[in-house]
Amino acid sequence: MKNDVERIVLSEKKIKTKVKKLGKQLVKDYTDKNPIFICILNGAAIFFADLIRAMDIPLEIDFMKVASYGDSAETSGVVKIEKDIGADIRGRHVVLVEDIVDTGLTIEYLKKYLQNHKPASVVACSLLNKPNARKTEVKVEYIGFNIENDFVVGYGLDFAQKYRNLCFVGALKKEIYQKK
Ligand code: IMP
Ligand code: MG
Repeated sequence: MKNDVERIVLSEKKIKTKVKKLGKQLVKDYTDKNPIFICILNGAAIFFADLIRAMDIPLEIDFMKVASYGDSAETSGVVKIEKDIGADIRGRHVVLVEDIVDTGLTIEYLKKYLQNHKPASVVACSLLNKPNARKTEVKVEYIGFNIENDFVVGYGLDFAQKYRNLCFVGALKKEIYQKK
């Protein structure tokens, strides 16, 4: 699996340090707010599990699954909800947790979708951000790392459903994602 990675973009250690820092920031902003953290499956699962455990405050969790990419490295621009939240978020403070914001279309769609449920607030927290790939001006309130436009895998991020279990984030060799 590691042989398919061209270079390490973020080491396991760097990620750990950043997740702790994000946790601290969120604790500061959400103490006494009993927030609901929503994990966007599947990509954010690993980040989500580490992030919520970096926060020693009362909070609730829920999960959503959206489809956007299929097995290609290009976004389709179409967002489909495959699994919706179960919690009633009316009047609640919501933190959407993503693995990566690329074009921004997914997070923009989800923020609007959740606003319809009349929460007290909705913010986005993404481990990774590709500012140069943006197709829409959506606000991402909490960002771990800004990265270049390479296609990356690991720590939850996949290519064709693989590589999610790598402990670091790496740029995939171009011949891997271009041969399909
Ligand atoms: P957006 O709608 O273009 O912002 O895409 C967001 C989703 O695309 C993320 O949740 C990821 O699942 C996927 N994605 C975007 N860039 C990458 C990448 O470099 N590697 C793996 N998945 C990615
Ligand atoms: Mg994702």
